[in-house]
Amino acid sequence: MALPLLGNAWRFLPIVGSYKVSEVDKVSKLLHETFGDIVRISGIIGRPDMVFLFDADEIEKLFREEGQTPHRPSMPSLNYYKHVLRKDVFGEDAGVIAVHGEGWYKFRTKVQQTMLQPRTAKLYISTIEETVDSFIDRIEKIKDTNSEVPGDFLSEIHNWSLESLARIALDVKLGCLKESSEETEEIIEAINTVFKSTPDLELKIPFWRFFNTPTWNKYVKALDSIQRISMKYAQIAFERLSKDPKAQCRPDSSLLERVLNQNNPHVATVLAFDLFLVGVDTTSAGVANILYQLSLHPEYQEILYEDVTKALGKGPVTSQSLEEMQYVRAFIRETHRLYPSVLGNGRTMIKDTVICGYKIPKGVQIVFPHERMSKLTRYFDSPNEFIPERWFKSKKNNYHPFASLPFGYGKRMCLGRRFADLELLVLTAKIIQKYKIEYRYPKLEHTVSPVYIPNGPLKFRFIKR
Ligand code: HEM
Repeated sequence: MALPLLGNAWRFLPIVGSYKVSEVDKVSKLLHETFGDIVRISGIIGRPDMVFLFDADEIEKLFREEGQTPHRPSMPSLNYYKHVLRKDVFGEDAGVIAVHGEGWYKFRTKVQQTMLQPRTAKLYISTIEETVDSFIDRIEKIKDTNSEVPGDFLSEIHNWSLESLARIALDVKLGCLKESSEETEEIIEAINTVFKSTPDLELKIPFWRFFNTPTWNKYVKALDSIQRISMKYAQIAFERLSKDPKAQCRPDSSLLERVLNQNNPHVATVLAFDLFLVGVDTTSAGVANILYQLSLHPEYQEILYEDVTKALGKGPVTSQSLEEMQYVRAFIRETHRLYPSVLGNGRTMIKDTVICGYKIPKGVQIVFPHERMSKLTRYFDSPNEFIPERWFKSKKNNYHPFASLPFGYGKRMCLGRRFADLELLVLTAKIIQKYKIEYRYPKLEHTVSPVYIPNGPLKFRFIKR
């Protein structure tokens, strides 16, 4: 039996034909409704064939059978930057993003335990709380007399996310939410340039492969800045530690100190570089989605407020109080299901594989469209309704564990997951504790940019309780 193959004919389908990166969610929906659980797309210039797979059993099988070095199709332009253009800088230890095979495995092994240990993330609770407090100060400063923040609020969220990540990855206060130095401006600008260039470079026709396009030139300059600033702070921490060897084995040693303890400053630099590349806009999208859902569900704001008040009282955030906020956790989980910051995931087949009875050759990219799958009645009851309670442990629901996977799965699972969870939880709890949130404009659609966010000015009203 032949796999539904769109070949070049997909260009003649509405939406798919005029394929827009920002509408991959709509493309997924149309593909699934028209062709079913598996569909192969070929003929996209500069890209291998893609197979969209909407079957959670098959996705589970692929994940469970993936070998030691799973290959996530991603970022050919970053791949070129790390492995060709700046090979002299990145060398053999080139990180985890846009790195595959042995190189990826060796690097991930060096940092995985430290990054994913719940113990390490817990050390950052008060640090994250501090950045959230500064974010709240910032909201107070920028909101108008109607308690409404300006339309470019997403860039404020980015600044908070970057500030938090700099504390986590480099032990440094960049000051993104307060006074800004030349260096702060440089890294904010660089990270924003990378975000803005990525859809053009990665998802459209890759002209940069043939000549230095203006977008490519800006992208390279931005990556160079992030690399240089990461190296500077990793080096400072390394020199500090060299003078005080005891600091390396304290129970409260930072993530950077732990990484430096086992590795050289190069590994810490490249790790920070990668974390900046993928940890800022994903977390920002998570915050934008949560705040937007809060504004749409005032009834849940009250329930969450009680949840937070009961757990926190007037005290600081602790791991115990975070554990107790089951409604806040469930609200965030439900937001991830319906509006995942990362729309889907994927793997490039490293050997010929049979999927849904079809032989899929090595090299084909399999796309797991989790956002679409989360909206199928096959996997979730009342799938389009926002029901946080469905995630309560006591519910004993039988949701397929591979239908909604906001942080991926397996050996390549999100390396920053513990930190992302913590950041979203602390921020949501503290915002809910202080404000009621409103959005008084027409309903927003979601767009892929390349993270999945509400498409429009995020002019929330933050009304003090
Ligand atoms: C809401 C926030 C976030 C979401 C939804 C998210 C989601 C994801 C997903 C879906 C993947 C792919 C996993 C796979 O292939 O199975 C991933 C990979 C990754 N994430 Fe996150 N992420 C978030 C925040 C962060 C943060 C804050 C950091 C850094 C501190 C981070 C670091 C990484 C890294 C380094 C990888 C690549 C792992 C590898 O290929 O070995 N992420 N993330």
